[in-house]
Amino acid sequence: MAFIELKDVTYTYPLMKEPALKNISYTFEKGKFYGIIGENAGGKTTLCNLLRGLIPHFYKGKLRGETIVNGEDIKKVNIDLLSTQIGYVFQNPFTQISGVKKSVFEEIAIGLENLGVPKQEIIDKVLNIAKLVNIEHLLQNDPNALSGGQRQRVAFASVIAMDMDAFVIDEPTSQLDPEGTAGIFEIIHMLKEQGKTVILVEHKIDLLAQYADEMLVMHKGEIIAGGPTKEVLSDISLMEKGAMLPHTVLLNHELNQKNIYLDHVPVTKDDCIRQLRTRMSS
Ligand SMILES: Nc1ncnc2c1ncn2[C@@H]1O[C@H](COP(=O)(O)OP(=O)(O)OP(=O)(O)O)[C@@H](O)[C@H]1O
Ligand SMILES: [Mg+2]
Repeated sequence: MAFIELKDVTYTYPLMKEPALKNISYTFEKGKFYGIIGENAGGKTTLCNLLRGLIPHFYKGKLRGETIVNGEDIKKVNIDLLSTQIGYVFQNPFTQISGVKKSVFEEIAIGLENLGVPKQEIIDKVLNIAKLVNIEHLLQNDPNALSGGQRQRVAFASVIAMDMDAFVIDEPTSQLDPEGTAGIFEIIHMLKEQGKTVILVEHKIDLLAQYADEMLVMHKGEIIAGGPTKEVLSDISLMEKGAMLPHTVLLNHELNQKNIYLDHVPVTKDDCIRQLRTRMSS
């Protein structure tokens, strides 16, 4: 079932001449995992702002075309209600952290308190998510005195703790090391397994290739490619438009130039290894 439908959407921020989103059409289905990639300033965060209703309810400016969320025009949706249906992890973790809570525990609990969740349930949920995100040792710390990476994990935890049906997550691992990144991806994958809709902006393309059902590539405010992950990431020409492609796709491209051809473009390491094994044994 369609969750969010965009039909020829163009959006221009207040006082700006150039639109940040241009003629965007795409359908996001319930329960799928979408990866969004593309060059800096390509419009990824702006698209997230639209999906979450911050455009047009918080960011004014000019919005044309149709954005339908759960069957309702985004211009008419109740933004407070939407905020309980779609969790949003902001690109900048400083934006997410309230600045009013004394401990990381309280910070993660805010959203649950606002939703009116019973106290014992809040405690259980916070402890559970803290364990998952590996911040148990920080629960009593001051949220304003965390490092960038810790802050990012707390911001992520505070949104994920609210058991919503859909999540829009904007670059949650930019400050994290490979281990921290893998942990976040595992949790996002788990959300998908639970049937939740996930829309994730990320630069870690090898991980997206492994987990995302569909990929969108943004360039100068447009979606220049969108569809099943394998199809989208097999297109080497996207490199010229500032999109990062998986290592295995680049390797395949180099092999092709030496007249070595695999069965199909491998977008994940597992697929690449499988194809090489078959080739070697034949
Ligand atoms: N609040 C704003 N007001 C005016 N212009 C904005 C605003 N936010 C973003 N823009 C502009 O809109 C365009 C798209 O920006 P956006 O932040 O959506 O790109 P992005 O793909 O998320 O980039 P990045 O990879 O750096 O996060 C850019 O030209 C940017 O300068
Ligand atoms: Mg951004």
